Amino acid sequence: MSNVVSYEVVDKIGVITVDSPPVNALSQAVREGILNAVTTAQNDDSEAVVLLCAGRTFIAGADITEFGKPPLSPSLPEVIAAIESSNKLVVAAIHGTALGGGLETALACHYRCAVPSAKVGLPEVKLGILPGAGGTQRVPRIAGVKAALDMITAGNPVPAAAASDMGLIDEVLSGDDLKSAALTYAKDLVESGALLKRIRDISIDPASVEPGFFEQYRKKLARRARGQIAPDAIVTCVEAAVNKPIDEGLAVEREEFTKLISSPESKAMRHAFFAEREAAKIKGLPKDTPLRDINEVAIIGGGTMGGGIAMCFANVGIPVKLLEISDEALERGLGIIRKNYSITVKKGRMSEADMAKRLELISGTTSYDDLSSVDLVIEAVFENPDIKLEVFGKLDSVCKPGAILATNTSYQDVNLIAEATKRPQDVVGMHFFSPANVMKLLEVVRGDKTADDVLATVMKLGKKIGKVCALSRVCYGFIGNRMLQGYGRQAHRLLLDGATPAQVDAVAEKFGMAMGPLAVGDLAGLDVGYKARQARTDIKHDPRNHCVATALVEMDRLGQKSGAGYYKYDPETRARQSDPEVEALIKQKAAELGVEQREISDEEILDRLFFPLINEGARILEEGIAQRPGDIDIVYLYGYGFPVAKGGPMFYADQVGLQRVYDRICEFRDTLDADSWQPAPLLEKLAKEGKTFADWAQENA
Ligand code: CAA
Repeated sequence: MSNVVSYEVVDKIGVITVDSPPVNALSQAVREGILNAVTTAQNDDSEAVVLLCAGRTFIAGADITEFGKPPLSPSLPEVIAAIESSNKLVVAAIHGTALGGGLETALACHYRCAVPSAKVGLPEVKLGILPGAGGTQRVPRIAGVKAALDMITAGNPVPAAAASDMGLIDEVLSGDDLKSAALTYAKDLVESGALLKRIRDISIDPASVEPGFFEQYRKKLARRARGQIAPDAIVTCVEAAVNKPIDEGLAVEREEFTKLISSPESKAMRHAFFAEREAAKIKGLPKDTPLRDINEVAIIGGGTMGGGIAMCFANVGIPVKLLEISDEALERGLGIIRKNYSITVKKGRMSEADMAKRLELISGTTSYDDLSSVDLVIEAVFENPDIKLEVFGKLDSVCKPGAILATNTSYQDVNLIAEATKRPQDVVGMHFFSPANVMKLLEVVRGDKTADDVLATVMKLGKKIGKVCALSRVCYGFIGNRMLQGYGRQAHRLLLDGATPAQVDAVAEKFGMAMGPLAVGDLAGLDVGYKARQARTDIKHDPRNHCVATALVEMDRLGQKSGAGYYKYDPETRARQSDPEVEALIKQKAAELGVEQREISDEEILDRLFFPLINEGARILEEGIAQRPGDIDIVYLYGYGFPVAKGGPMFYADQVGLQRVYDRICEFRDTLDADSWQPAPLLEKLAKEGKTFADWAQENA
């Protein structure tokens, strides 16, 4: 038939098997193979047809690598039309994940069965597009309008049992042998005279949707859109599913899909998809690098960070020991974990039984001797170099040979920490972001002597606990926090130059940042930066970069936790409000430092905030701290609230044009501050050569 799709008749049931690793995506060859098989089945002696996949999953969607290229025949809608109009029953048999075009293909079948571990979903919104092969028309017809909108605008996979409740799956199969269970199911359908059930024949009564429903839904989505346009287009399509016959609805869907696929947002989100997968790969490390077994983990420090990290492991069934210095500190740490899980249970996102299972996996200790059996230890104590060195000295004496010793430090030198042990090859940085049980990013920090198998193990483990990993070499702040310094500095300098906190944050938030830099400062606590500055006695601090923040801390305005920082906070709602007292303080500080205040345009704010990220990113690349520009993007997308619709700072730079970024940096160097605005040599070189960071990535792959 074709080398990726085969067809055979087994016991009067036609079996179409897609076998196109890694995820059976709907490439041209797969589409053509399925179409040919369905066509063949129309005229043979099969009584029904089963569509299933080999390998790890059912069809995981359109082949994203084909996006942006000229369309190849047959199109997915053609394949889907052929399946739906088949004169014999077609049954989709799902395992793994039926995603995007994969689920749409399954929805064109007359029946769907799935193994209990299967999941189905329409994740297109995460790529800045929408289901373009009938998903927006068929899901509301079968699952209802609200459920369809929730599913398609969130893009998250739905487990088989829930999908069955929604009507998306007709039969949850028992047993693990997909093929034989699906054949039995198909035969039963034939024997019972089951009808050719076509979702397109279901119509939705427009009166069943409350007046104003779609308007309300759009408003709700707009609040979390952050520069994304696909969610609103999805509402348009589902509205068409309600108000128009299916073929007209499908035409609306196609039109919206076509608009979205060529949008800059979708391009950025597709970049993020592939960058995320690329970041998991370590250059020079063979795919088959052996891994160390990680069956038991210990965390040193039961504070917010340590507790959050412990939850990450318990959540995937790995036992964790939490070590604290006293019984009281331990009880406090375990109490926070219990509280966090209870909140999840109260929100209905976890069952009591699941909570109990996870809590059972977390035990406490105050003795280092209890760590002799663990395979991995993650230190999450205060950012105090002396304490960290002491901890690693102790770990070295109690941990078994081959145990991985990781530090969660945000700033300290991982090489120095490694030297505190007699096994620097086993030491690595695992930099989690707070709250560690929620934030997706894990910066894996490679010391000079970190062994390859340690790196490979930690990257794999990171994925297992649901993190997106990016590799960094050792430098102050690693990739993310090092870049952040220029961003934070400019936010502060903009205030002195005449912008208000509200103006600075509004520009960042309009760009799509989850929160503006000054509001983030208030959330994290202004005392954190204050203490960090005090600890860095090795450098001379320019007061223009922090004088307002310092004064606020000295006025006991520490941010949200003290009710005021750059802003005042409503004690009940925590809503932020501009504070004339802060505006007066800024003016006073500017006058003291001889800074002449002026009107600052939003464009200047945007460039001054984001171009330092790009400039430092270029240095980080050139120094080999990050492997690729895409890895830097991943750090910012998953660790710092950078808008995915902009693809990350380095991708954004390529879209703006490196020449413009470079020219503007030179302009700021000449007019604002020569120290802060020296262009990175790599940025200058690429700009002069008319190249992009993406070009650099290709040349240095
Ligand atoms: N197209 C092309 N390549 C894909 C792909 C797709 N849809 N999905 C995954 N891949 C590739 C990945 O890039 C990766 O390649 P490398 O090994 O070369 O890095 C490989 O498959 C394995 O992917 P993962 O590392 O992500 O594997 P996983 O086991 O962790 O996850 C998965 C598997 C859940 C299927 C995940 O890959 C995934 O979510 N894929 C995307 C699914 C998706 O977005 N589908 C919708 C596509 S758009 C669409 O279908 C539009 C439409 O309406 C027609």
